[in-house]
Amino acid sequence: MNIGIIGAGLIGKTLAKKLSDSGHTVSLADAKGVSEILDIANDAGAKAVDVGDVFRDLEALILAIPLLRIPELAQTLKGKLDDNVVVVETTNYWPHRDGRIEEIENGTVNSVWVQQQLGRTVVKSL
Ligand SMILES: NC(=O)c1ccc[n+]([C@@H]2O[C@H](COP(=O)([O-])OP(=O)(O)OC[C@H]3O[C@@H](n4cnc5c(N)ncnc54)[C@H](OP(=O)(O)O)[C@@H]3O)[C@@H](O)[C@H]2O)c1
Repeated sequence: MNIGIIGAGLIGKTLAKKLSDSGHTVSLADAKGVSEILDIANDAGAKAVDVGDVFRDLEALILAIPLLRIPELAQTLKGKLDDNVVVVETTNYWPHRDGRIEEIENGTVNSVWVQQQLGRTVVKSL
C-alpha cells in the first residue's frame, strides 16, 4: 500500500519502519520540514516529504502528532485528501503534556473529537 505518515516523532518513525519493512511504500512528513527528517526517513526506509505533498497517491494516512495539533492539521488537510483514503489516528489525550480540551473533559471520546476536527471518519489506533 501507499501509506503517508504525518509526524516523525517516536510513533511516526516507528510505524514508518515497521510498515516499510513489511513492504509498504511509506512517505513521512513532519512540521520540522524535509531536511530535518531526512535521516529519520532514510533509517525507516521511507521517503521524506513536505506535509503539503504527503497527500498524493495515498491509500492510507496515519496521523502521529500530538492531539492538540490536530485542528491545525485539519486546516492543512482541507480539500486535499481523497474520500477513499483511510485515515488512522494515533493520538492520546494527555492534558498534563498537551493541554486541556474541554469537549473531551466533558465526555467526548478522543477519536470522536479527532473526527469532528477533520470532518471525516477515522480509524483509532491504540
Ligand atoms: N509515545 C508513545 O508511547 C505514544 C503511544 C501511543 C500514542 N501516542 C500518541 O501518538 C502521537 C505521537 O506521539 P509521539 O510520541 O510520536 O510524539 P512526538 O515524539 O512529540 O512527535 C510528534 C511529531 O509531530 C510533529 N508535528 C506536530 N504537529 C504537526 C503538524 N501539524 N504537522 C506535521 N507534524 C507535526 C512534531 O513536530 P514538532 O516537534 O516540530 O512540533 C513532532 O516531530 C501523540 O498524539 C501521542 O499522544 C504516543
